[in-house]
Amino acid sequence: MTVHTVTTQPIAGQKPGTSGLRKKTPVFMGPHYLENFVQSIFDVVGAEGKTFVLGGDGRYFNDRAAQVILRMAAANGAARVIVGQGALLSTPAASHLIRLNKTDGGIIMSASHNPGGPHEDFGVKFNMANGGPAPEGVTEAMFQRTTSITAYKILEAHDVDLSAIGRSTLGGMVVDVVDPVSEYAALMETLFDFDAIRALFNGGFRMRMDSMCAITGPYAVEILEKRLGAASGTCVNASPLPDFGGMHPDPNPTWAKVLMDEMFGDNAPDFGAASDGDGDRNMVVGRGIYVSPSDSLAVLAANAHLAKGYKGGLKGVARSMPTSAAADRVADALGIEKFETPTGWKFFGNLLDAGRVTICGEESFGTGSDHVREKDGLWAILLWLNILAVRGETVADILKGHWARFGRNYYSRHDFEAIETVKADAMMASLRGMLKALPGTVIEGMTISAADDFAYTDPVDGSVSLKQGVRILFEDGSRIVLRLSGTGTEGATLRLYLERYVAGPEGLDHDAQEALAPVIRAAHDLAGIEGFTGRVVPNVVT
Ligand code: G1P
Ligand code: ZN
Repeated sequence: MTVHTVTTQPIAGQKPGTSGLRKKTPVFMGPHYLENFVQSIFDVVGAEGKTFVLGGDGRYFNDRAAQVILRMAAANGAARVIVGQGALLSTPAASHLIRLNKTDGGIIMSASHNPGGPHEDFGVKFNMANGGPAPEGVTEAMFQRTTSITAYKILEAHDVDLSAIGRSTLGGMVVDVVDPVSEYAALMETLFDFDAIRALFNGGFRMRMDSMCAITGPYAVEILEKRLGAASGTCVNASPLPDFGGMHPDPNPTWAKVLMDEMFGDNAPDFGAASDGDGDRNMVVGRGIYVSPSDSLAVLAANAHLAKGYKGGLKGVARSMPTSAAADRVADALGIEKFETPTGWKFFGNLLDAGRVTICGEESFGTGSDHVREKDGLWAILLWLNILAVRGETVADILKGHWARFGRNYYSRHDFEAIETVKADAMMASLRGMLKALPGTVIEGMTISAADDFAYTDPVDGSVSLKQGVRILFEDGSRIVLRLSGTGTEGATLRLYLERYVAGPEGLDHDAQEALAPVIRAAHDLAGIEGFTGRVVPNVVT
């Protein structure tokens, strides 16, 4: 088989964002686009003699991209690639396979929760040997490489048969096609008490799991229905489709509305859950009660010791800065370390590797632990099930009990999507310019105590990340955070995060948007959102 060295030129804009390089699918399918980026990955991390994991969430172009990446890995001298059958792997399962097989890293094909299809989004990201997303220094080096690339290497070969489990070779490289689910399911059995959860289902407990026509379908069916005995039909939208069946596979109350309606309707099941395109996000809902991701993180941290994988207790808890402080209160009560990191799972990697934290979470429907180095949707759902099985209470009881003990951090995120980039940038610049003058200002009857642009020094390696989002803190514990998304593919997305703490016992039972109304008004006033962007109403409220 011949290795071709193909002459190419840099393509502008191949800059990885919060989680890898994401673009519209036709852009990715354009001449040399995927190849240039993959070669840049190999040029930075080295491929010669190495072993990688490869898989994706099954979105449109996943299968073709996998064949290109395999031929390029072979041409660049990789020794072995472990691929999920059908080129499928959820992000957490890929992270697990990287760690389990002690490989040199992996390439995940996904644009996470962004829609898929010929006119939607595609993405590629590289995970390191620890199973976690490449840190900024590495992704920046990849980007730099894309700006000077002159050639890439690719093997001339037929497609590898990825439909059947087993070993084959491609040039001098071994290709191992593995079941995408089995190792992941085995890992879950080591963490959770499957007998207790099976008994729960046997006792008539009903669940709805919505995989949104994305990657977790096969995982959910195997684990929930086959191994745990949930009624058949518990898992819906369980076949991964190239266009996610036209769904927007982002598990939140807006996009998982069908699930929300069922959970708030007559004859609702006891527990509802959904996960995203690549399986790292989750939403959980009780009968008639929505669990915000920030609250979910706090409840999981407070109860994790009830599951066998965490019975020794937690080392520490980490949350991203915009996530509510609910988890901090749990960490304080448990007497363990707590950390506040910038947005993006990669910032948890060092803390997990150093054994400083066990559980991490983000307000953006991401929760996970040190079992892998990605957030893990099904893991969170299984931990909830384990807690429900042991406590024998409803989701509503557990949540209300949690608020009664720790107080409630009312929380919401408002997203304003597809704003013209110049307008969003101007708004953030103006806000940054006024930060110094804000403390002491009274607005909506609340006094601003501090305002800054979040900066983070990694406690493990000392690396510094600046300008991670504007924070405005109030004396009563309320908080406003504004930042621009790093994962969008169309213009700019403004994320406005709103929080207000109530110690209780009165005031625990309000609607979150109502409880936050003064904070919302203050945010619009201070940032001048309408003046700069013309927007008043957010596209998505979570
Ligand atoms: C978003 C979320 C962030 C998450 C990331 C990847 O990033 O806000 O918490 O880590 O997706 O799933 P953003 O678009 O805000 O940069
Ligand atoms: Zn995802």
